[in-house]
Amino acid sequence: MAQGPRVLRTVSALRRALQPWRRGGAIALVPTMGALHRGHLVLVQQARRRARRVVVSIFVNPTQFAPGEDFGSYPRRFAEDIAALRAEKVDIVWAPTPAAMYPDDFATRLAPEGAALAGLEDKVRPHFFGGVGTVVAKLFTQVQPDFAMFGEKDYQQLRVVTQMARDLDLAVRVVGVPTVRESDGLAMSSRNAYLTESERQIAPVLYRVLKTSAADIKAGEPVESVVAAGRAKIRLAGFTLDYFEARHAHTLAPIDRRRDGPMRLLVAAKIGKTRLIDNIAV
Ligand code: PAJ
Repeated sequence: MAQGPRVLRTVSALRRALQPWRRGGAIALVPTMGALHRGHLVLVQQARRRARRVVVSIFVNPTQFAPGEDFGSYPRRFAEDIAALRAEKVDIVWAPTPAAMYPDDFATRLAPEGAALAGLEDKVRPHFFGGVGTVVAKLFTQVQPDFAMFGEKDYQQLRVVTQMARDLDLAVRVVGVPTVRESDGLAMSSRNAYLTESERQIAPVLYRVLKTSAADIKAGEPVESVVAAGRAKIRLAGFTLDYFEARHAHTLAPIDRRRDGPMRLLVAAKIGKTRLIDNIAV
């Protein structure tokens, strides 16, 4: 049986373990909050292809949850996660204790701007990218990976983290990995577990609308009317819509003509109590 990954919980143990590997080929990091599904494991496989050593971090980061969000109830399945990572031959699981990540006297936070203030996730969760930026910057400085894998599923996060690494001159290449989906198109997410059976039936509407909207825009239909029709379809299916927007794929600034740059459609909507996000290239 494959040897399990080493599970490390303090920065000093992590540094000691990584030190001998620094000259022996690339190190790739896959940051996660655990409750791993096939989407996460594809990130791990992509990391494996690029690097000799793979580190997966599992840390449910309190600073990216607002009071009243699901920090307390976020799924935690550490034993299953370790078993899945053993099968992927991961070298290290970096699972810092909350005190190792945020000691009592912790006093420094990042405040990402640019794509982090695009009026998408940040509009609904204004605390979110400060929390993500801070924890990912810490993960990058703790692990000092050559590559870090992020899912396109969380597209705004991917843009914010890419910018942050560049702005802070971190020697890491942030790699975006296409969204892994269920057979009916629903983007895999740890939060899909919250869906009731009937909500689960409706959930794939998001991706269907993204796909048809992208096709309509490519066919030359005006962006504004395609987006308006998409919003109506999502609401009609029973969602409460947070946003459905056409944005510049890099800056996430509003864009209303395809020729003005690479375009991305991004959506966030609630079905029952569960909030889902998805996006697609145009
Ligand atoms: P988490 O939601 O656990 O996601 C970890 C990584 O997996 C992210 O890069 C996310 O985009 C990617 N991912 C999730 N579902 C995916 C799917 N269906 N297909 C492809 N990739 C997918 O995102 C976070 O954690 C946190 O914000 C984190 C970056 C770890 C900082 O705390």
